[in-house]
Amino acid sequence: MALLGGSMAFAGADDAVPAYLDERLPIEQRVEDALARMTREEKVALCHAQGKFSSAGVPRLGIPELWMSDGPHGVRAEVNWNDWGYANWANDYSTAFPALTALAATWNPQMAALYGRNIGEEARYREKDVLLGPGVNIYRTPLNGRNFEYMGEDPYLAGEMAVPYIQELQKNGVAACVKHFALNNQETWRGNVDVRVSDRALYEIYLPAFKKAVTEGKTWSIMGAYNQYDGQHACHNSRLLCDILRGEWGFDGAVISDWGGTHDTRQAALNGLDIEMGTYTNGLTSESEFTCDDYYLANPYLKMLESGELPDSSVNAKAANVLRLIFRTAMNSGAPRGSLDFAKHYAAAKRIADESIVLLKNDGLLPLRPDRYKRVLVVGENAVRNLTEGGGSSELKVKDMFTPLDALKEVYAEVLYAPGYKSGRPIYDGEELVAQDVLDSLRREAVAMAKDVDAVIFIGGLNKNGFQDTEGTDRREYSLPWGQDRIIEELCDANPNVVVANVTGNAYSMPWIGKVPAVMQSWYLGTMIGPAMADAISGKVNPSGKMPYSIPRRLEDCAAHSFGPEAYPGVESSGPRQEYREDILVGYRWHDTKSIPALFPFGHGLSYTKFEYGKPTASAKEMTDGAPLVVRIPITNAGGVEGSEVVQLYVSDLKSTLPRPLKELKGFSKISLKPGETGEVEFRILPEHLRYFDDAAHQWVAEPGKFMLLIGSSSTDIHAKVPFTYK
Ligand code: GLC
Repeated sequence: MALLGGSMAFAGADDAVPAYLDERLPIEQRVEDALARMTREEKVALCHAQGKFSSAGVPRLGIPELWMSDGPHGVRAEVNWNDWGYANWANDYSTAFPALTALAATWNPQMAALYGRNIGEEARYREKDVLLGPGVNIYRTPLNGRNFEYMGEDPYLAGEMAVPYIQELQKNGVAACVKHFALNNQETWRGNVDVRVSDRALYEIYLPAFKKAVTEGKTWSIMGAYNQYDGQHACHNSRLLCDILRGEWGFDGAVISDWGGTHDTRQAALNGLDIEMGTYTNGLTSESEFTCDDYYLANPYLKMLESGELPDSSVNAKAANVLRLIFRTAMNSGAPRGSLDFAKHYAAAKRIADESIVLLKNDGLLPLRPDRYKRVLVVGENAVRNLTEGGGSSELKVKDMFTPLDALKEVYAEVLYAPGYKSGRPIYDGEELVAQDVLDSLRREAVAMAKDVDAVIFIGGLNKNGFQDTEGTDRREYSLPWGQDRIIEELCDANPNVVVANVTGNAYSMPWIGKVPAVMQSWYLGTMIGPAMADAISGKVNPSGKMPYSIPRRLEDCAAHSFGPEAYPGVESSGPRQEYREDILVGYRWHDTKSIPALFPFGHGLSYTKFEYGKPTASAKEMTDGAPLVVRIPITNAGGVEGSEVVQLYVSDLKSTLPRPLKELKGFSKISLKPGETGEVEFRILPEHLRYFDDAAHQWVAEPGKFMLLIGSSSTDIHAKVPFTYK
């Protein structure tokens, strides 16, 4: 019988267990052994998809295929073999955990660990080897449709919150796939916009969260972004994937392309991509009737290897990375079995949601006591809408969805509801326009009802429709859509007790902020959105979230929108090409350095109690590389209810050779205190917290000189300053 595919080394029945199957052996030894047994064809087969969400194993050697699933907020419903249609299984429901911006808003790494552990149990039970998340792209503009999937504007916060998620997820034997590496900070022209950015901004703003995910989180895989960087697509960008990811960070996992992010065989072969997914699609809708053998890293690659145009070392390196990923996941017999313990996972989702809601403004109306406010009107589409659907690849199929309206009906004696407005029916690239007379009548109905209730709770915001909070398109405007600003104004005219508790993944303008007595920032909180919002509004839970991004008064106050179209969204005629002209001044770095105050600053969040900051103590007045500075500060709950405060530490370099932001977040600690209780928060200042990236020297430098530590409850609400000298 002619052996297919050339000579093969069969493991005879009497052989000992081959090394690659022996989990007692070091993983590198197993990888080498498997490679030595594999043909070139088998190695190439590892480097590309075999279907929409799976890539091949090595059937002859009993090495299983890899199964991947979205997404960062829960395990997506099963998709067809090789198209985007849902397979409509009956057992692929999942828990919708809060969106990652909400996780960031908890400022609590313990919540990130809880998140990773629980989502990992569901991914493992659903037999997924790779969970396509978390996303850590930096929030550069409030118009980015996918900001709800990411962790805000500050790289330190994003990195600190990503690491526990990754570590706990991977304890389930499921690989994290941190995305989208790198510079995918908008959806407009995402497939090819060519991002130009200084090395300072690249290293200080856009890479740190990815670096932490690799060097501390030890992520087993990373996803290349759709966009270009310096003229090369990120999915096969030699600087990002070879020089930085592997060369500087020592990444030993697998690089997986975004779906449709691969564009060239030679580049994909030589520039660090390991698994090509979703090619010949626009990432979402279009398909090709071809087989996966037509992928750039399939037959075209094989041919160039056979001809010697490309070195076999390239496919050996890829195959080794993919085998390592398979051994860590699909062949990890020591991994737990996971579960769909929805009661447990819903409880985890609720805890995370509770800690994420941000109290932006409160003139005393909140908490809305049920014993005092008995007849309550709820207005707004997001009080009833299932926001786990839509939004692109992060959408989920949930068995349960507890809406805010249902939850509020459990709390208040009499709850009335009026939509107040209506969003358009979603269509692929947007939504159907809603007639003005429909909006007018809905508004009039809500305002009329507001006149004879004790209080009004407005739950509107954005949603997952096109040009709102969704993948594939950016928002077209900074203001709330569907006439919500007018409704909020008129509700305030009709009733003095209006709470605005909007659900969004992005900042938005608030022209009515002076009229509304209480404003909450809620998030796409998933399955438990209703109970979490009802508990925060009624006071059963004391909000402790802090903003993971600034809320500018106007879009023009935002850094990315202060340098013309080249900075955002880029200039289409040039490619499109885009320049991050704000450089390192992103978010509060811009607002605080340029004295353009945000309406609500980064790190802002109120409580139903009051925290007092005591006098800080420092271990020394000078700091050297060998002697970190230790700073302690007492915090007292001076109010009447238990609460948690996020104490934030910002570092200000008072004199530096290169310009630096006025301050940068380098520490935070969430402390829970009972009424009257005093606790202490400790920060250890290390040289790494003082450094900036000197792009000319291509190195991180901490220049000796005077520094100031700023300790506060937001980036602008500073309660203590500690000067010191770095020697
Ligand atoms: C999408 C997204 C990516 C997702 C992938 C698979 O286009 O950009 O985040 O994981 O394709 O759905």
